[in-house]
Amino acid sequence: MGTLTNKRILLGITGGIAAYKSADLARRLRDAGAEVRVVMTRTAQDFITPLTMQAVSGSPVHVEMVSAESKTGMEHIELARWADAVLVAPASADFLARLAQGRADDLLTALCLATSAPVAVAPAMNTQMWTNPATQANMLTLRRRAVHVFGPGEGDLACGEVGAGRLLEPVELVTLTAGLFATGELDGLTVLVTAGPTWEAIDPVRGITNKSSGKMGYAVAEAAAAAGAKVILVSGPTALPDPERMQIIRVTSTQEMHDAVHAHVREAHIFIGVAAVADYRPVESAPQKLKKGAERIMLDLVKNPDILASVAALERKPFTVGFAAETDNIEQNARQKLTEKRLDLVCANRVGDGLGFESDTNSLLLIDASGITELPAAAKDKLARALIHHISGKYHVAQERQQQAEGRA
Ligand code: PMT
Repeated sequence: MGTLTNKRILLGITGGIAAYKSADLARRLRDAGAEVRVVMTRTAQDFITPLTMQAVSGSPVHVEMVSAESKTGMEHIELARWADAVLVAPASADFLARLAQGRADDLLTALCLATSAPVAVAPAMNTQMWTNPATQANMLTLRRRAVHVFGPGEGDLACGEVGAGRLLEPVELVTLTAGLFATGELDGLTVLVTAGPTWEAIDPVRGITNKSSGKMGYAVAEAAAAAGAKVILVSGPTALPDPERMQIIRVTSTQEMHDAVHAHVREAHIFIGVAAVADYRPVESAPQKLKKGAERIMLDLVKNPDILASVAALERKPFTVGFAAETDNIEQNARQKLTEKRLDLVCANRVGDGLGFESDTNSLLLIDASGITELPAAAKDKLARALIHHISGKYHVAQERQQQAEGRA
């Protein structure tokens, strides 16, 4: 897997001779695992054709604010929501000025305003234009607004001058773009995550389980790893491949998941229970396949341990986050779980009608003692990154409070 696996990168191209490098950049972003969509300004098309960019990116190129193909007439909003990150390379002096002013007079500037994803610019221009106080003032404004600035490099420029203003090489831009997802928010911390369903055997071929695919839990584990954490993923049976950069423990039953969690929970700073755990299991599991017989049979079930509650009850418990899959009264039921299981945070999601279980998208209500935050519907990987950002903030505040309390004691 590449460094940008499953990331959606919106590549913006503005007018400048360095635009010829954008084709190589798009290809390298895809080689690193990213899905790439391209937006070109009008002048960018004087330097490289949309057809070339379509061929290398594998998607139609967007150039107009309102296009005939757009279903909603709001292409800038659709693309702004689609992107996990926006990379404008090359970014011309004129584009940077318009971005700094907050203008929305073409598709690229409008979607940069509309997106909640990180925005990065790779300036490329003549040295005098780059060092001009107007450009430098624009860069200061953009940096203050958390726009990431990649480069420019120094060297021979297309205009014949030597100095600052060269577009960074595509390979460097790919590495820097991957770095946008490695926030370092959880550096030095260990995060223990449960994911997927559990399987409670009735006999060797039958069992009690549920429709959890593991997608949400794996996305949370990957987002934690990308944020710098050491991640231990305890997974029930799923069809998903093992994610990289983490320890994976595959289990089947709730009891096995419970035991694996408790074998590692002492090293965890944060525990996130995303698994859909079976609340009950058959009292006995038949050693041979059960034969068809009586018209009616009874299955005797016994309660499983509550893994999440058992972690939250530990004397030295990690910051404990639970999920609540609800079909109705979402907020009320989730608050009840927050209190009853003594959680630090609960993430409620609506399930049913194709939501939550199995699907690639989800939405969450994050509820704790201090309030409620809504993460609107988005792809599970994008949602997981927002969730990890939220958890990281809450964890660090809780740590500060605890240190202050220990200082007073
Ligand atoms: O896997 P996907 O297809 O991507 O679907 C994701 C999901 C819908 C499964 C996920 O987002 C989710 O909501 N997971 C929790 C589902 C659930 O079973 O909720 P619950 O209300 O039954 O349990 C509440 C919490 O207690 C959960 O954190 C659960 O992990 C935990 N629990 C429950 C029972 C038990 N015996 N032990 C537990 O630890």
